[in-house]
Amino acid sequence: MNVITSPDDVQFYSQRIREQGLTIGLVPTMGWFHSGHLALMDKAKRLADKVIVTLFVNPMQFGPSEDLENYPHDFDRDCRLAEELGVDLLYAPEKESMYPDGFATTVHVKGLTTGLCGGDRPGHFDGVTTVVAKLFNQTLPHLAVFGEKDFQQLAVIRKMVQDLDFPIEIVGHPIVREESGLAMSSRNTYLKKDEMAAALSLSQGIACAREMVGRQDTVTVGQIKDAVSAVILRHPQCTIDYVEVIDENSLMSTDTAGSDSRLLLAVKINNRIRLIDNSTLFGKERI
Ligand code: PAF
Repeated sequence: MNVITSPDDVQFYSQRIREQGLTIGLVPTMGWFHSGHLALMDKAKRLADKVIVTLFVNPMQFGPSEDLENYPHDFDRDCRLAEELGVDLLYAPEKESMYPDGFATTVHVKGLTTGLCGGDRPGHFDGVTTVVAKLFNQTLPHLAVFGEKDFQQLAVIRKMVQDLDFPIEIVGHPIVREESGLAMSSRNTYLKKDEMAAALSLSQGIACAREMVGRQDTVTVGQIKDAVSAVILRHPQCTIDYVEVIDENSLMSTDTAGSDSRLLLAVKINNRIRLIDNSTLFGKERI
């Protein structure tokens, strides 16, 4: 596996691949790989001739009181896992080459970024779209794979790609879960043993909502949100940032639970670890 750290070198690498008539699949990450990341890489491998994985803990998407300094990292372990999976190139730029002195541009997607995680984490999505736009321009992929766990992020990136005419196919990948139902996340590593039951309340809340809509003919969105909140708040360690049922396309709150609606949750455990999860209410996924 190749490892590159400079934007110019990765662009040169990608141009050479394109000249050979080969396709590039990109998986942008912030590292600390888990099975969820590996599933994205595997998907990219099946869809493209060459796979580039980016590893960059992007300071621009972290708020001042967030976990940038403590974000988990182990470069050698990540390299080994990516190599074992058959990734062709790991691109791990330095902060200084991504945001040199004088860097002054922000990519902002209006509308989709205002509520949900955008409400709780002001500026977060501007950081995401700016870095993803840069990574696209540096790695020149034909397609890029993102996880559905960050459902709002996926919608925002799709909108950016559409509005800015990036010739890149955006592929979503279903959430990968632990046996317990916990959605895989690099932040799960912060969970102490006695916080695990509280963390599991997100997937349990989702399972409760899906069970409700499967069992009762007339269940309102209000009843779903109340039931899910109750499952979460049984744990005194949990505080709810949001429990929302939204329309999958507009991300707007909806009053009717239909095939296009999705339940999205953000919960803080001991005010320290922010976890998110989501699911369709009627779809077939395993929770
Ligand atoms: O989902 C993530 O890990 C990050 O938000 C991303 C897309 C790599 C941008 O930094």
